[in-house]
Amino acid sequence: MATVVGCVNTSHIPSIGKALAHGLQKDPYWSPFFNGFPPIHDWLAEVKPDAVVVFYNDHGLNFFLDNMPTFAIGAGTEYVNGDEGVGTPDFPPFQGDEALSWQLVNYLVDHDFDMSICQDMMVDHAFALPLKLLFPGLSPFPLPTVPVSLNTVLYPFPSARRCAALGKTVGDAIRAWDSDKRVLVVGTGGLSHQLEGERAGHLNPEFDKQFMDSLLQENPDWLSQFSSEDIIEKVGTAGLEIIMWVAARNTLQGPVREIHRNYHIPISNTAAGTQAIAPFNLK
Ligand SMILES: [Fe+2]
Repeated sequence: MATVVGCVNTSHIPSIGKALAHGLQKDPYWSPFFNGFPPIHDWLAEVKPDAVVVFYNDHGLNFFLDNMPTFAIGAGTEYVNGDEGVGTPDFPPFQGDEALSWQLVNYLVDHDFDMSICQDMMVDHAFALPLKLLFPGLSPFPLPTVPVSLNTVLYPFPSARRCAALGKTVGDAIRAWDSDKRVLVVGTGGLSHQLEGERAGHLNPEFDKQFMDSLLQENPDWLSQFSSEDIIEKVGTAGLEIIMWVAARNTLQGPVREIHRNYHIPISNTAAGTQAIAPFNLK
């Protein structure tokens, strides 16, 4: 049976792409963010994942306002990264893991998650940048991937409770897969930020910390007590992206341990967080 080796959740701010392109990792503005990754690189070198499932939200590259699935999953041979108009350089296409995709698709539909299934799917910065941060300097990206997109762009949004259930079912699907692969799960977005309107610049470090702490509990469903509107009130419109962290964390079963955490304000008006979590008994 396949194994979930752990999850890494991290922010996916577009300007990270420019920082990577210009080699600004040691720049005083950027280093507090990039310094959060070397301990996670060390851990990834130990656990050696063979494939990556990424929970992220598309920002209008593949899905737009006239076609916005609540939950979508890729089932393609590759995923093309496209120009989003913010000047982030494109990366070479990301290889798909078709066998894992269809394992997830079939298991999810069998367990009451009626996913939009995309055999042709472009992936934006929310998918690409975290993978480049976790496996720096490798191009094209070396591991096969499965993108899972959760809508945080257009009402109505999936609840944190539903995203937790989706994550649990994805984890069960991986563990039920007749394969010896070691799967890393990544969740991208957040933490607190709002980029527009009267509350532009809104941050909430107290809530962010409480949220990250909650993901270390054996039952990590703390965010499920809040509606989408409550979450937006607390962490800003774009902060709703923390539901990706909930989905990714819920793929893990039983007690967990924190591999590493980093939190820094601000990166592009955003509270930037990174947190790696592994099953307690798995190295
Ligand atoms: Fe985003």
